[in-house]
Parts: sequence; structure tokens; C-alpha cells
Amino acid sequence: MSCDMQPSITALASAKLFAGTTLPWVLEANEAGSGMAREDFLAWLVDNRQSIENRLHRHGAVLFRGFKALKGAADFEAVIKAMSHKLLDYAGGTTPRSAVSGQVVTSTDAPPHLTIGQHQEMSYLEPSPSFPDPTPDKVAFFCEVEPAGGGQTPLCDMRTVLQKLPQDLVRRFETRGLVLTRQLPETKQAGYEVTWPTMFGTSDRQEAEAFAAKRRWRIEWTDDGGVRVHQNPSPSTLVHRVTGEKVWFNQAHLLHRHYAPWTGDFLGPAADQQAEAERLRPALSKRFFYHSTHADGSDIMISDLETVRQTIAETMTMFDWKVGDLLICDNKLVSHGRQPYTPPRRILAALAADDRGERT
Ligand SMILES: [Fe+2]
Repeated sequence: MSCDMQPSITALASAKLFAGTTLPWVLEANEAGSGMAREDFLAWLVDNRQSIENRLHRHGAVLFRGFKALKGAADFEAVIKAMSHKLLDYAGGTTPRSAVSGQVVTSTDAPPHLTIGQHQEMSYLEPSPSFPDPTPDKVAFFCEVEPAGGGQTPLCDMRTVLQKLPQDLVRRFETRGLVLTRQLPETKQAGYEVTWPTMFGTSDRQEAEAFAAKRRWRIEWTDDGGVRVHQNPSPSTLVHRVTGEKVWFNQAHLLHRHYAPWTGDFLGPAADQQAEAERLRPALSKRFFYHSTHADGSDIMISDLETVRQTIAETMTMFDWKVGDLLICDNKLVSHGRQPYTPPRRILAALAADDRGERT
């Protein structure tokens, strides 16, 4: 709740949108905001939390820029906690990351030349009795080292995407559902592979089996030491818990053999690297893949996936990172991705659940 001790949002920052965009909503520090101490910044955030949350629900993402009190992972973590979000682990995820401190991780360890497609974090995790709402409410990023070139984190409003998609496509996805299968290796060979010890957060098979059992996933250990994970059907759209708005909410357009990362230049852009990738592809695509089908096992039409990709590409927007930027996204309303970049670049990430007293 607001108290009279703290200044309003606009006393310390000016609010704006980047030209031609609807998101993120940008809070740019003024002189007083720029120089404030960390503890004052956190108190200001807590006091204005509800209005910031309202902006998050309206725009889908809020960017804090120019607050010099924000210097690194510890400050980043403190902000997310101050916003009353419970930090979450990344176990069960699909991209390579490194732990930084606590539950703060690098945004992705995928090679710089690769584009990461638009996704809502963990939207492929299906609700189950143990996890009725298994996907993070928020995903947040902090720019520790701004990219030398490129490396933007494009954002896309999935309410708009759902409105733009052809109704017959949406009906096909909603009535037929989706299901994800993953094949994960035990050890990493190529640049993009995610191993099962990374995904499960343990190299102990029994612990991995317990993780899978809790989510009701069926798993098969394969002869090469890998594992095949069969998930349960998940919906393709979702109604936002707070705003009541319906959004497109799945990753079939990325987690599909047709678009597997190893069909791109995962080793690098040079001709000899491309040739090597081509040579390795048949073996690697057996070791590691994600594949989505409809819930009855039937194939998703490639033309539908192309339409989804095209609609997202036409809707997404991007801005250039500046050191110290802190971005909070509503993970249900907005997807994010990553553009190729020229190193260095260091963007930290954290996943969070709204504190509503119902998660274990
Ligand atoms: Fe992500």
C-alpha cells in the first residue's frame, strides 16, 4: 500500500514509450532518481508496486533505466524480491544457462550468432495436480554489460498475436491441444545442446525420475545415456489470472523438429563451420531434439507454424540495451527472444512467481 513517505513514480523518473511501440513502458530516472541509494530505490519500488504492476498488466513489460544504484546480480535480485515476487529455479527449462548468484542466471549461453525465437518462459510446461500453474508469472532481465552490437531482447504482446491469428488456426490448436517430447543427451557435444542433468538439475537418475514423476512425465533412458521425456498435453492459449485476457501461450513454433536449432549454423557462421554442422546433423538430431505434436499424436501443420512465426515477427518490437537497464516482463502476456550479437554481452535473468500464497 502507498504511504506518504515515498515519492511518486514521476517524482524520480519520467515515463515514456519508445517511438512506435506499446511496450516496454519505460521509467527513465531523472536526476534525483539517478543518484538515489539502493535502499531508497527499493523502498520507492515497494511503495509504488501496485502502480508498476498495473503498468505491467497494461503494457506487458516495464523497463527501469538510468538508476545508478543498480549495479549487479545482488541489486537485481533485491529488486525482484522487493516487487514481492518469489524467485524460481530454472529446472525443467530448455536452454543452456549458467548460475550467477542465488536464482539469478545468465539469460542464455547460446552462441552469439544464433537468434533465440520468441517464447514465454516455460509455456511448454503442462498444468498438473502438483503444478496447477507451472509457468513463471514474471521473467526479468538485467543488463550488466551492454552488447557491443545487436543482442536486443525483442518483446511481443501475445494478446495481439492471438487477435491477429486466423480463427481456424486458433480453433485447431485449442481443440487438438499440444504435447511436447524431448530427447536430451547426458553430456554436451554441440553448442546448443541441453543435457538432462542440466534440465533436471541433477545427474542422479533416481532424482531425475522423481522430478519427472512429480510432473507425471513418462521417461525412457536411451542406450546412449540420454533420456526421452514424454510430457502430457498442454493448452495452446491461456487466460491471464489477473487481467482475464486471453493470450497465445505455447512454443510449438520453436520446439519442433522442423525448426530444430541444429538445422541452423550452431557451430558458427563460417563456411567450414557450416559444413561441419551439416556433417554432424544426422547424429546430433538423434541425441537431442524437441518435438511438438497435437495431443492425439498427429502432426501440426507446418503452414500453421509458419503463420504463427510470421505473425509474431510482424508484432514484435525491440530496443537497444544500456548498462544498468532492468526489464520486468509479464511472462503470460509477453514473449521475449534474443537477437544475434557482437560480444561482449552479459544479461542476467530471473524467473519469478507472484506472491499469492498458493505455491509450494
Ligand atoms: Fe527466455
